[in-house]
Amino acid sequence: MCGIVGYIGKKRAVDIILKGLSHLEYRGYDSAGIALVSKNDAHIYKASGKLNNLKEIISREKEENISTTAGIGHTRWATHGLPTEVNAHPHTCNCGSLIIVHNGIIENYKDLKPELEQKGCRFKSQTDTEVAAHLIAHEFDNKKDLLKAVQSAVKKLKGAYAFCVMHKSMPDKIIAARKNAPLIIGTGEGENFIASDIPAIIEYTKKAIYVSDNQVAEVKADSVKIYNETGDLISNKVENLPFEPVALSKMGYKHFMLKEIHEQPDVVRNVLVDKIQNEDKAVLLDDVKLSGEKLSKINRIQIIACGTSLHAGLVGKYVIEELTKIPVDVEASSEYIYRNTIADENTLVIGISQSGETADTITAIKQAKENKSHILIITNRKDSAMARLADSLLLINAGIEVSVAATKSYMAQLISIYALAIYLAETTGKTGNSKLKELKKELLTLPSKLEIVLNDTKNIKEIAKKYSSSKDFIFIARGINYPSALEGALKLKEISYINATGYPAGELKHGPIAMLDETMPVLAILNKGIVFDKVLSNCEEAKARQARLIGVTNFIDEKHINLFDDLVIIPEISDMVSPALNIVVLQLLAYHISEYLGKDVDQPRNLAKSVTVE
Ligand code: M6R
Repeated sequence: MCGIVGYIGKKRAVDIILKGLSHLEYRGYDSAGIALVSKNDAHIYKASGKLNNLKEIISREKEENISTTAGIGHTRWATHGLPTEVNAHPHTCNCGSLIIVHNGIIENYKDLKPELEQKGCRFKSQTDTEVAAHLIAHEFDNKKDLLKAVQSAVKKLKGAYAFCVMHKSMPDKIIAARKNAPLIIGTGEGENFIASDIPAIIEYTKKAIYVSDNQVAEVKADSVKIYNETGDLISNKVENLPFEPVALSKMGYKHFMLKEIHEQPDVVRNVLVDKIQNEDKAVLLDDVKLSGEKLSKINRIQIIACGTSLHAGLVGKYVIEELTKIPVDVEASSEYIYRNTIADENTLVIGISQSGETADTITAIKQAKENKSHILIITNRKDSAMARLADSLLLINAGIEVSVAATKSYMAQLISIYALAIYLAETTGKTGNSKLKELKKELLTLPSKLEIVLNDTKNIKEIAKKYSSSKDFIFIARGINYPSALEGALKLKEISYINATGYPAGELKHGPIAMLDETMPVLAILNKGIVFDKVLSNCEEAKARQARLIGVTNFIDEKHINLFDDLVIIPEISDMVSPALNIVVLQLLAYHISEYLGKDVDQPRNLAKSVTVE
């Protein structure tokens, strides 16, 4: 969500902070700001919109104002107040001496504000963060110690935060604090870095300390001291950062999204390499701690996730139920929480999240943990908050995903879920070996089928062009591809802003059919299998209402070809694995429509890569 970068050392802070913020741009934001601090002097620059607007302002500044070696910067994704310059971070106290950047939400800011106003604080913005600035400034006035001021202030805050705090009178330190929002401290020689995510600092250091919830850190150029909730000095491990800067290059593609779509055959290979070696070997999942004995007691599975990860979970329901016969419920994390969910120690709760930092899913996982359920996390980030909550961990190994629209991480989630389902089936013995063998074979041949689709995208580009002026889109499918229809519609909405909805094809006649006429494109996914004829009948119903019909299929006979205005033929594939192939067509369609419309493909408006607020 929002991005934080802090620097203290011997180099020009402005360059490091702006570069760091640019590496966090992919996460989504709508304004940016920076504070450059030196002895009794602080220069704050802010701009709404893209980081370039901020860079432009700074480029006009006098060198002496921007040549400091300490500072903090921020990209803001608006939650409280419009994305304006005044609401952009950093925020300060009345006199501008105390300066703060913040990720998260201070939930009790409205309770704290009146008291601060009575004490003379004047609020300039509509943000929750400004309350924290004034609160810490008051504590500082009492204690004259910035570390103690932050330690004392955070005790009064409810909600989520990752802070960087500076004071004009002591430019030799940055105080950082964290609760339910990611924060790392990158360590260097005579310099230290603070960031909300690895890409911001990886160019400068490969070593970092992960700050945990309720910890406060005092960061100076040559030291990092971490304190726990009770104020004791503790020592967190310095860890190696798992990240290659090359991931931040487009490698010749116009957008990261296109690059990431094309990476999918290798992503599948990467997921499979250590899990499914060949169809005769049992699936290996190193960090899944579910013995046969434990699994024999599991009588229900709950999958919780958001957005694209939720759609991967829906595919998971079909696969896991089919192979294990254990009932699976799938629910949006935001719906799972704040009610008495029926889960106990015999429930396996699976949280799926690319980032591992999605606030709704973290809260849901914590709720399930209280019910003593076994928590299995499927994520792309082994250093994430969710990974740290896991009893069992399934890393999807998709590599860094820069585009806000999830593509390759969805693919890696799907393949990891197939591997998990086979693992559960092999451990419980609920499915015959030959069926599992067949499924493994299908997965192992998937990369070459994906390459067939990706090597010839001319037809998909033409279809994209033809339908790019549509105002609405309907995606239909049945069975295991119903989630593909949902995901295809989500992709299109996210990056082209065209109103798109996914329906189970059988539901069309129960309402949505009223919307059909010659202006409405209906995209149908038809795979050879049990629901093929049924979806075909639903297509006939749509055509009878003059809808423009696009088919994505691996099987079509001569007599039905004319039913469709456009067709995308994909390679032969089993029904069970087909979501992993169909989705590539839908990702490409969404990508090319967005491209034709000239939208900001990688950073769609209003969206953030990881949503760290509930
Ligand atoms: O990091 P997560 O997988 O938990 O994120 C969940 C959703 O926010 C995410 O999938 C979102 O829907 C993407 N923008 C999809 O493209």
